[in-house]
Amino acid sequence: MQTQIGTDIFQAIDYLKRGDIVSIPTETVYGLAGNALDEEAVLKIYEAKQRPRFNPLIIHVASFDKFSLYAKEIPDNCRKLAERFSPGPLTFLLPKQDIIPDLVTAGSENVAIRIPAHPVTLMLLEELDFPLAAPSANLFGYVSPVTVQHVYDGLQGRIPYILDGGPCSLGLESTIIGFEGEDIILYRHGAIPLESIEALTGKPVRQATSAAQVSTPGQLNSHYAPHIPLWVGDVDSLMQVHHGKKIAIISFSKRYIYPEPAYQFILSETADFHEAARNLFRVLRQIDKLDADIILAERFPESGLGRAINDRLQRAQVVFKN
Ligand code: TXA
Ligand code: MG
Repeated sequence: MQTQIGTDIFQAIDYLKRGDIVSIPTETVYGLAGNALDEEAVLKIYEAKQRPRFNPLIIHVASFDKFSLYAKEIPDNCRKLAERFSPGPLTFLLPKQDIIPDLVTAGSENVAIRIPAHPVTLMLLEELDFPLAAPSANLFGYVSPVTVQHVYDGLQGRIPYILDGGPCSLGLESTIIGFEGEDIILYRHGAIPLESIEALTGKPVRQATSAAQVSTPGQLNSHYAPHIPLWVGDVDSLMQVHHGKKIAIISFSKRYIYPEPAYQFILSETADFHEAARNLFRVLRQIDKLDADIILAERFPESGLGRAINDRLQRAQVVFKN
């Protein structure tokens, strides 16, 4: 199969209406989209990504009034958060309506749903009478794509079309939350920081239990992982431990004396979380092409977007058996 890259929304719509899958731009990362109500299209997504079927997909809709078509029991806090943050990088886990195939939710009674804040994809969604199931458009386990080139590198020959909407403005996946009674539960750190959710609702957000997180495989180890082993922590001490190896460094804003500049990647010279988040996946892919033995990454401050950045770095860390 030839993979074409283009800006033709109507071509993308044609593919999607025919039950084919297309990569679409969002503000977070590129998605690999198909008709969420069509099991065959959903199967194509799992196959193209080589994603195990126990890992459920987020569905994307154009507006909040669509939520009730696909989810039931929409809590007040969901409404309130959606009013403030949607369209945007906040995904809601809600009890699903029967119309959503079990394949989309991997058998779960809950469906993950969000409204992406990308003008091209919002236009696309408005033209469709079905929601789009879309995981990140990378091969399973690898770093999420934030440009069309990244999508092409991973999925060329596997999908017919990549809809070009420019580089992703946020570069980090959506935050995923669910609801239990009055409580708000966090399933994945992402581009909306916890603090913003807590400020709006006036309630502390609860972490999902580890059992619940196992059903969220983006939460498993060795996800978002480059091929070169990566360690997160205090870079100066890690450099001593890995003395003698060819080292590449990812830092927030600091420049180190060693190694040479081509092996140092500063995510934001001004220590700005947004800029760092936007650069993270691009840098992980770039660094993965170097001839380094090992990547050492700084741990970020545990606040705001720093938590989501740490979360992705932690999962990119490969743990060796010996
Ligand atoms: O920003 C994003 O969320 C991007 C863009 C494309 O929208 N999508 C994305 O999808 O990151 P994906 O599939 O790479 O990650 C979705 C995560 C997975 O960890 C999955 O396990 C979890 O959401 N998830 C999806 N549906 C779920 C469900 N019904 N119950 C529990 N977890 C779910
Ligand atoms: Mg993903």
